[in-house]
Amino acid sequence: MNVVGDGLLPPAAYARDDESPDDRFYVAPRRVVHIDDGAISALGRLYAEVLPVGGRLLDLMSSWRSHLPEGLVSREVVGLGLNAEEMADNPRLTSSIVHDVNRDPRLPFGNEEFDGAMCVVSIQYVTHPLLVFREVRRVLRPGAPFVVSFSNRCFPTKAVAVWLGTTDQQHVELVRAYFEPAAGWLDVTAEDRSSGDGGDPLYAVWARASGGRGRAGAILDPSRAGD
Ligand SMILES: C[S@@+](CC[C@H](N)C(=O)[O-])C[C@H]1O[C@@H](n2cnc3c(N)ncnc32)[C@H](O)[C@@H]1O
Repeated sequence: MNVVGDGLLPPAAYARDDESPDDRFYVAPRRVVHIDDGAISALGRLYAEVLPVGGRLLDLMSSWRSHLPEGLVSREVVGLGLNAEEMADNPRLTSSIVHDVNRDPRLPFGNEEFDGAMCVVSIQYVTHPLLVFREVRRVLRPGAPFVVSFSNRCFPTKAVAVWLGTTDQQHVELVRAYFEPAAGWLDVTAEDRSSGDGGDPLYAVWARASGGRGRAGAILDPSRAGD
């Protein structure tokens, strides 16, 4: 069994007030957005810069909106989350799958299936960050971006302890620290992408999947965190 935190930080850093299975918490659809219009627009501008046009995208920890700008035409957008009804109502998703990444960090996709991946305002709920980042890298084609974004709010009972005990700036550093030891990522970039309108802040950390050594073989073995 994998120990929470994947050896990056002690397991206590990944304790949560509510340790019940995540699918219980998300059983009722919440058709809400978790960031305001200014932050959604800022995220759309970032996506227009970073995500490929015409690609197959993975919306990791998806719900009823993916925040992709209208002009960013995609071939397919696959949602992975815990509530099927929310994802069925998401106009950008072409398909969706219910899968708990904390129960099983392996992603139910083949190698190099996606041209880009996003995870919006949800990374604070992940208890196996290195394993999940390795899995995202595995399912991305070489050069494909993974964009992780977040604001300053969360469901506190489901967020990991290290998130609750740190500042926005430290969250940026924490997410950067997920990319680096997960290995196989290039050009890790972290920016405050807040719109400046006084509304919700928006922070993003993104990188591109590398090709080459260890990509497919290093999926679920935390002892290889330094590869
Ligand atoms: C705060 S919502 C964010 C939803 C969406 N990304 C957005 O921007 O509105 C958190 C999402 O993470 C998903 N989620 C939470 N825990 C999860 C887990 N263990 N495995 C997979 N998805 C999870 C839930 O289904 C929920 O949709």
